[in-house]
Amino acid sequence: MSKKRLRIAIQKSGRLSESSVQILRGCGIEFGNGLGKLRSSARNFPVEILFLRDDDIPQYVEDGVADAGIVGENVVLEKGFKVETALRLGFGRCRLSLAAPKQFAYEGTGDLEGLRIATSYPKILSGFLERHSIDAEIHTISGSVEIAPSIGLADIVCDLVSSGSTLFTNGLKEIETVLESEALLIRRSSLESDLEVLFEKLCFRIRAGIEAEKNKYVLLNAPNDKIGRIVDLLPGMRSPSVLPLAETGWSSVHSVIAEDDFWEVVENLRAEGAEGILVLSIDQMVI
Ligand code: PRP
Ligand code: ZN
Repeated sequence: MSKKRLRIAIQKSGRLSESSVQILRGCGIEFGNGLGKLRSSARNFPVEILFLRDDDIPQYVEDGVADAGIVGENVVLEKGFKVETALRLGFGRCRLSLAAPKQFAYEGTGDLEGLRIATSYPKILSGFLERHSIDAEIHTISGSVEIAPSIGLADIVCDLVSSGSTLFTNGLKEIETVLESEALLIRRSSLESDLEVLFEKLCFRIRAGIEAEKNKYVLLNAPNDKIGRIVDLLPGMRSPSVLPLAETGWSSVHSVIAEDDFWEVVENLRAEGAEGILVLSIDQMVI
């Protein structure tokens, strides 16, 4: 009997496609890029990748066509299917926002009363309107929401904003954020035990990749009398490694620092007498 494969659905083409492929390849999983294909079996890990429309992924996962999927939080919340979030993936960040024509003088949510709002996210939008006790008309359309005001279909829109260029080229400005979103790894709540084991393995690898991206590996040299102060600046995974250099009186310090504060740490290290500072990317980090 052939072994079971874990089926993972990812977006076929769109904002999340490339990063979804990269995060799986970053786990050492080798597969074709899905060009002209709906599915691709990995060569070295028992998974099958399904390339689908992102909007369909939550339903496929709930129905069991796929066991897991990578999809925007916005889609998961809008669709309301019963799927579990296993990991927040930290890419594909965007906002679902209300946007109005540039000349619209907006002062607060009270100005939304009675407006016609075009969106592909009626469920999330109606929740927002209810929370703010606003009575407005929702026009659900499936695509090209940004042109609705210019053709007279709506007064304003509620749409995804990533770089903001779609709004800008359509003469719209953001007036309210309705939801912040990022890519999620979702799964069906009940997986057969062999698939559960595979899914755990996959999560373990993805987490190692996510942690690695948040951190840098730093190496530096310093005279021994400065090592104490330098070590105090470096958290390290447990604590920094200190190794003697061939030249007496000098040591080399190795550590891991968070990407977010690495420039500040590097400046402080230099100020404390560190020399020859090297900062390297980390491929995987198992903590
Ligand atoms: C969203 C949204 C806009 C665009 C905004 O579509 O509908 O068209 O991205 O991005 P920008 O601010 O960088 O211009 P998405 O990629 O989610 O595609 P989809 O609606 O087809 O799923
Ligand atoms: Zn979509």
